[in-house]
Amino acid sequence: MEQQPVYYGTYLQLDKIIEAQLPESFKEGRQPAHDEMLFIIIHQAYELWFKQILFETDSVIDIMGQPAVNDNAGDLQTVVHRLQRVTTILKVLVQQVDILETMTPMDFLDFRDMLRPASGFQSWQFKILEARLGLKFEHRHGQHYYISQLKQAEINLIKDAESKPTLIGMLNKWLERMPFLDESVYWDAPGQEKEAHPFWSAYLEIYGASLAEAEMDNLRHFNKIFLEDEVNKERTLSPKACRAALFIMLYRGYPALELPFQLLDTLIEIDNQMASWRHRHINMVKRMIGSRIGTGGSTGAGYLQGAMEKHFIFREISQLNSFLIDRRKLPSLPEKLTAKMGYQF
Ligand code: HEM
Repeated sequence: MEQQPVYYGTYLQLDKIIEAQLPESFKEGRQPAHDEMLFIIIHQAYELWFKQILFETDSVIDIMGQPAVNDNAGDLQTVVHRLQRVTTILKVLVQQVDILETMTPMDFLDFRDMLRPASGFQSWQFKILEARLGLKFEHRHGQHYYISQLKQAEINLIKDAESKPTLIGMLNKWLERMPFLDESVYWDAPGQEKEAHPFWSAYLEIYGASLAEAEMDNLRHFNKIFLEDEVNKERTLSPKACRAALFIMLYRGYPALELPFQLLDTLIEIDNQMASWRHRHINMVKRMIGSRIGTGGSTGAGYLQGAMEKHFIFREISQLNSFLIDRRKLPSLPEKLTAKMGYQF
């Protein structure tokens, strides 16, 4: 079949996008507020980027949801690459606040009242993104109204996203499958009674010796996070997954652990960038409307502050950094394990 020539404007559907700004204040009988055009375009730009971030996130969840992530076929590389793209987009989203801040509070007041009750609160893509990354309903700030301003069709989309596998859930499964940390295979000492966690028992001793008096409670946390068998409903990462994640962080110098480390680091970076955006958004809100309530009906900056503190989705990964030890004190690993994690010539 002969291919039709592609036309720039048609391909990009520019007639829809360029015609999609309809400022309320430009309507007949009203006094046009100059900055409303900027206000609309910046929100549209954000929503387009949210769409792209969701597209990347969904694809990564699909790859990680396969029965076995084939690291040799480049699956993990694709995952890391796409998530790094997400962090790059998020950085742009943080920067974009600069543009909106060229609008003064008085410029905003020229049209703010015409927007009620519309608000970024109604950004269903943002809520779906939080859910797909792994924010559970139980951990949401402002549960009683986070979907109160939305249409039923959008609530359904969010509920659907909340019921699907999440990125952090997939990460948990992938970490649990990590082949390198089978202690019964690599730490078997013939003739000796088997210990449940020979590597971690040795590690815990070194870690304990590195703690200050006021940090001794960390030993109890260590047991809870890494060694307990009981399922902890409060946590998404299982002890087995946490052991794998900490192992990756500790021994990331081995080539086989390089990409896994980048994956963990990128997820922490996604949280950081989301938090930076939330922080800048709050400052902008305070600057624009001070302590007034939002057009979406929340307490405004107070609500946003609560969400910022609570919505760290990959907190369980960054918290593992409390359990690192000095590189020089790392236990040496069995040779048959290091042979597998290094380059083979
Ligand atoms: C003049 C600028 C802005 C002001 C004063 C403002 C104000 C607010 C306020 C007060 C809220 C809390 C909900 C409410 O009661 O309305 C909110 C939520 C939100 N806004 Fe904005 N906003 C501004 C710009 C933006 C921009 C450019 C975006 C980009 C998409 C955005 C996205 C959001 C999102 C996603 C939420 C929900 C956050 C969450 O639930 O954690 N806002 N905004």
